[in-house]
Amino acid sequence: MDNNHALNTALASAREDYIASHPESWRQFSAAQQHLPGGNTRTVLFYEPFPLRITSGDGCKIRDVDGFEYVNFLGEYTAGLFGHNNQAIRDAVVQALDNGISLSGHCQDEARLAQLICNRFPSVDKVRFTNSGTEANMLAITAARHYTSRQSVMVFRGAYHGGLLSFAHGTNPVNAPFEYLIGTYNDIEKTRQMIRSHTADIACILVEPVQGAGGCIPASETFLQVLRDEAREARIVLIFDEIMTSRLAPAGMQGYYGIIPDMSTFGKYMGGGLSFGAFGGKSEIMDLFDPTHPESMPHAGTFNNNVLTMAAGVTALGSILTKSRLKALNSRGNELRSTLNRVAAQQGIPIQFTGLGSMIGIHATVNPITSIDDLEQSDDRIVELLFLDMLKSGFYFARRGFISLMLTIGDKEVTDLINAFEHFVRDRKSIISQD
Ligand SMILES: Cc1ncc(COP(=O)(O)O)c(C=O)c1O
Repeated sequence: MDNNHALNTALASAREDYIASHPESWRQFSAAQQHLPGGNTRTVLFYEPFPLRITSGDGCKIRDVDGFEYVNFLGEYTAGLFGHNNQAIRDAVVQALDNGISLSGHCQDEARLAQLICNRFPSVDKVRFTNSGTEANMLAITAARHYTSRQSVMVFRGAYHGGLLSFAHGTNPVNAPFEYLIGTYNDIEKTRQMIRSHTADIACILVEPVQGAGGCIPASETFLQVLRDEAREARIVLIFDEIMTSRLAPAGMQGYYGIIPDMSTFGKYMGGGLSFGAFGGKSEIMDLFDPTHPESMPHAGTFNNNVLTMAAGVTALGSILTKSRLKALNSRGNELRSTLNRVAAQQGIPIQFTGLGSMIGIHATVNPITSIDDLEQSDDRIVELLFLDMLKSGFYFARRGFISLMLTIGDKEVTDLINAFEHFVRDRKSIISQD
């Protein structure tokens, strides 16, 4: 049997095994399709043949409706940083509940959380809250367009800035109807040319310092510095989407490289695991939203300052996320990535782990990866086989090949994951190795 055929056969058998061992997930998935298109209300969670239905979580573990327990290496796509039941966050939320919800006015925690964010991130003089990262980016773009009186938004292929701002394949029919210029991530010369030939039109450059959904691909420091320099020269607003990456260093990637954008957007973990988004930046831009000014721009949102998120966020940023905890988390991620890459390289299998710190991408190619274009070579069948085998061993991560570490993941879980990967490699090497 040639490798190609053997891989197809192994994958078909792993899928059959998955179907047979998860009858209740299948039943609930089928029933949900009656009222939710595809049984789904969040596209990223869908995968073939059907996704797991999760009942509960504790620490770093989750359980599905068929009674299986997994170590959660997905960490809610970075939003679950604090694990499933952090006591301090629970206490803050319960306290907020005790004080009553939907209070119809300003609460005290919103200014506290704003102060914590401004103190932590050098680009942020002032900040505003939203309910999601998508909204934060939409508002940052709108602010930049208003501030510059220009229209176009420069982004990069492979970027994911939210449900209405998704550039995995260039444009996307659901995207908000801004005028986009789509550059090539990490390609300094092309990017410079694009900026210089559209200077008069570009309101903002929106960039993830590490592309998350696009495959966990870090921008080079030089690329980010070129964006900084070109934007300054052309009076373009540079926006760092730090919705995922702000957890990679105490002051986010802007602090890590000392490259300070004009605006930043935040989300995910920063609300302690509850719905959250924020956009902030220089006072002269953010003051466009100051309602004490007669010409100000409105920024509405019933739940922007909801008491539960505000309380959880104050505890998350103010008490839990110390510099030392973040450093330890990201060192753990760097060590895990190097070990997994070493195992793959030693055994000659075409699997590569990308990313930075506690965010790890998994790709079935050995070619260097600097933009999403390099992922065309990745054999998704291998990523799926790894996903199914690791699930069977009790480890959960994103089907597309993405890990994000939670603070509740300890040495034992990391060692167990490495052992399970070594087991996968031994088991499957003959069908996935290149020769
Ligand atoms: C980099 C980045 N920006 C924006 C978003 C959108 O955030 P939300 O899902 O809260 O709308 C995401 C979500 O995955 C993200 O990863």
